[in-house]
Amino acid sequence: MQILKSFNDVSLVVDNLSGTLGLVPTMGCLHAGHLSLIKQARMQNDFVAVSIFVNPIQFESEKDAHEYPRNFESDIAMLESENVDFVFIPDIGEVFPYGYQTYVTVTEISRVLEGSRRPGHMRGVATIVTKLLIVFRPDSIYCGQKDGQQSILIKRLVKDLRIPVDVQVCPTVRDSDGLALSSRNIYLSAKERKSSLLLYSSLCSVQDAFRDGIKNSHILRNIIANVLTNDSLLETVYISIADFDTLEELDQVCNKALCSIAVKVGSVVLIDNIILEEVLNE
Ligand code: PAF
Repeated sequence: MQILKSFNDVSLVVDNLSGTLGLVPTMGCLHAGHLSLIKQARMQNDFVAVSIFVNPIQFESEKDAHEYPRNFESDIAMLESENVDFVFIPDIGEVFPYGYQTYVTVTEISRVLEGSRRPGHMRGVATIVTKLLIVFRPDSIYCGQKDGQQSILIKRLVKDLRIPVDVQVCPTVRDSDGLALSSRNIYLSAKERKSSLLLYSSLCSVQDAFRDGIKNSHILRNIIANVLTNDSLLETVYISIADFDTLEELDQVCNKALCSIAVKVGSVVLIDNIILEEVLNE
């Protein structure tokens, strides 16, 4: 595995590649969720590149970025064992050198959900992903359904800027009890972790109701709210049922919707989502 530290290193490699390239952007502290993206990229491409960069401009404060968990040695060991070809680990000065002033904003999609809770977050994500796509020129980029809004944003920006890359969204990886894997789960106490299981069970209740024919979003949102209010350790931040491409809130689910929630548990806000989609009978 080749370790690349600068954009020039990346360009030298990419200019001489013959074969398809899959890119998995990450902020490190890798877990089984990331590994599922890497495995998918490995299956579908001749070459796989992973970036590890704790992107300061997608955090609300320098402190938050600084405190984001890091586990460099175990990350490298994991990437080696997954036969990753290239890992890009730039420092902040390489990505945002002195004088940097260019940002990418996907306007509407960035205003809602995580975007309204974390101002600047989506702009930070759109900017770093665009920079990575420009330098790596991959055939496919891999994102997780766990960050549903982020995946929708990346699809929009690729379409709007006509960047020739296929956006592959891989299913959310969960622990055996249903909790979606996240680097933030390490901050949960045993009690908080137990309460957090209600996130997925609330989403499963909505999925069941939807399959039973309930399409009214207000009723569906209430099903989640009722499950979450059962536990005093959980504080609901938002419950959304929104159009799958635009993230506009829906009154009625007609085609495909993203049902997403954010819940504060102790010091952590956890997010999770499911896709609501009519299954057409043949
Ligand atoms: O999902 C993440 O880890 C980050 O938002 C990403 C896509 C690597 C951009 O920094």
